[in-house]
Amino acid sequence: MKRWNETSNHKPPQSQKSKPPLIIIMCGIVGYTGKRAAMPVLVSGLKKLEYRGYDSAGVAVASQEGILIRKQSGKVAGLDQLIHDDPIRATLSGSHSGIAHTRWATHGPPTTDNAHPHLGPNGRIALVHNGIIENHNALRDRFKADGHTFHSETDSEVLAHLIESHYQGDLLQAVTQALREVEGTYGLTCMSADELGVLVVARRGSPIVIGLGDDETIVASDASAIITYTRQAIYLDDHDIARIEGSHVDIRSLDSSSVTRTPAEIDWSPGAAEKGGYEHYMLKEIFDQPEAIRNTIRGRIDTGRGTAILSGLNLTPRELVDIQRLLIVGCGTSMNAGLIGEYAVEDFAGIPAEVEQAAEFRYRNPIVGSRDMVLAISQSGETADTLAAVREAVDKGSLVAALVNVVGSTIARETGRGIYLHAGPEISVASTKAFTSQVSVLLMIALKIARAHRLSREEGIQIAQEIEKLPELVEAVLASNDQLAEVAAHYAGYNNAFYIGRGYMFPVALEGALKLKEISYIHAEGYHSAELKHGPIALLEEGMPVIALLNEGPGQDKSLSNVAECKARSAPVLGVVTQGDDEARQACDHVIEIPSCPHYSAVVPAAVALQLFAYHVARIRGCAIDQPRNLAKSVTVE
Ligand code: G6P
Repeated sequence: MKRWNETSNHKPPQSQKSKPPLIIIMCGIVGYTGKRAAMPVLVSGLKKLEYRGYDSAGVAVASQEGILIRKQSGKVAGLDQLIHDDPIRATLSGSHSGIAHTRWATHGPPTTDNAHPHLGPNGRIALVHNGIIENHNALRDRFKADGHTFHSETDSEVLAHLIESHYQGDLLQAVTQALREVEGTYGLTCMSADELGVLVVARRGSPIVIGLGDDETIVASDASAIITYTRQAIYLDDHDIARIEGSHVDIRSLDSSSVTRTPAEIDWSPGAAEKGGYEHYMLKEIFDQPEAIRNTIRGRIDTGRGTAILSGLNLTPRELVDIQRLLIVGCGTSMNAGLIGEYAVEDFAGIPAEVEQAAEFRYRNPIVGSRDMVLAISQSGETADTLAAVREAVDKGSLVAALVNVVGSTIARETGRGIYLHAGPEISVASTKAFTSQVSVLLMIALKIARAHRLSREEGIQIAQEIEKLPELVEAVLASNDQLAEVAAHYAGYNNAFYIGRGYMFPVALEGALKLKEISYIHAEGYHSAELKHGPIALLEEGMPVIALLNEGPGQDKSLSNVAECKARSAPVLGVVTQGDDEARQACDHVIEIPSCPHYSAVVPAAVALQLFAYHVARIRGCAIDQPRNLAKSVTVE
């Protein structure tokens, strides 16, 4: 298994000087040059990137006639139709190189004019760009004074003009000179009508992956768009610029010196990024979880010694003993996983752990002691606030580790130590399998730290064995999918819901509520069960269902009292209960059963049950499950 410190893309933290600003647009880039017709590769690549969230899309191909662009606001399917109906379809489909983009509007509305690709003033250079050119106004004014006309409100079009203004027959040279004048961030791909078959790509703050094929290269802003074609990839570093022609890749830095980047193997199978016959990616990913967790824990549990093998953390037992506090940062679902990590670290290891929203950590000048370890959690490894929190922790001189799913992502590259989830690509915007894999790793981290601190070998063995059972616990919940769908039908008509839990189940309540609101648009809030009576109880009535996490364990009697309080106010109660727990069952209107297991591992089957519940509610309500409104998979803006 690939360890953090075995990944060729890993590099030590960057110096302060080389850090790009953190405001990055969340858009998708695809580029192709090689033996195939470019257009189908570009369109299928855009479809693979749809999960990121976008509001317009476009493609450009290069041919003898020049550069042909087709773009429009709306979905890729509409763009595909536009190309299909095009009178110059033969030219469009005959080209062997091109670039494409999905845009999430930030500078200017999602109009066709603002969609990428953008052309230079003579229409000879086309560009797709993620990021923000901060000095675009000054550059635009300069070009306008020279008589340039702009067709969009975007900073990206200004960059296309800047590149073309430097062009003298060598695109790599023109892009290099242009980028020396640019302030801001970019992941870009461009081409020239005068150098057919050549793409130039560059990165500063926004990812670019170069997929290496036979006599062809496909570039993209993330690996999902390239794994159909190849698994060999180069992840560009900030300030890298590459000229690509067919399968030849020449990487330079901004000062034009040659750069060597070692290709890495993308260990996702092409099928892993497809729906695999499920109606939605979310459902597929929920069902992926037993396998995803197996991949996450494989080779990382030493049952005999009652510990975890996490070599990517690169910490000796001596160094683990030195850790006196764990600070966990993340956003959204990743932060909710972090909360479970907090409970486990304190429970197993007896050292304090705290969780903080990454956005708060980055700005409030946090106190980080020399014996603290900061653990950043991010599925994508690109979330702007989490990345900024990592950089803040690095600047504070602390030990920083990351827990990331996407290999080669920025957070993975900027932290000296960490653990990959190996959960496979997560396409659905609502995170499911990343969450349970994160929890699995957090339990292993807690176990490892605990063994160095106070946990006996026997206790360690017991926890290790329970972690190994997690995939089976999930399988048991998945087997009750049909019953879960029936239960969901009783709750799909409500417009509000409370989730309550205590102990380890409190973070699960938060995550359950987040899942429901993300995909079904039902207003849902998670509370500690005991908090219910400090305000939320005022809202309880027959139209306010309560989803109560009631599995056996400490405090269950108190949770049952909380349920009685809800019932007394006519609130319908759905309980997540341990199989065979009749008392809990009788306290509720409906139940979802999870297998009997220790409370620290029950979080996983309970979370899966709530994922399925949210999924079925959203399906019944006819929601766009994989692409919920206003949400994006990877939030690289502040
Ligand atoms: C977005 C997604 C969430 C995700 C959060 C953090 O808000 O919609 O599902 O939990 O970002 O993403 P990360 O990639 O850092 O885990």
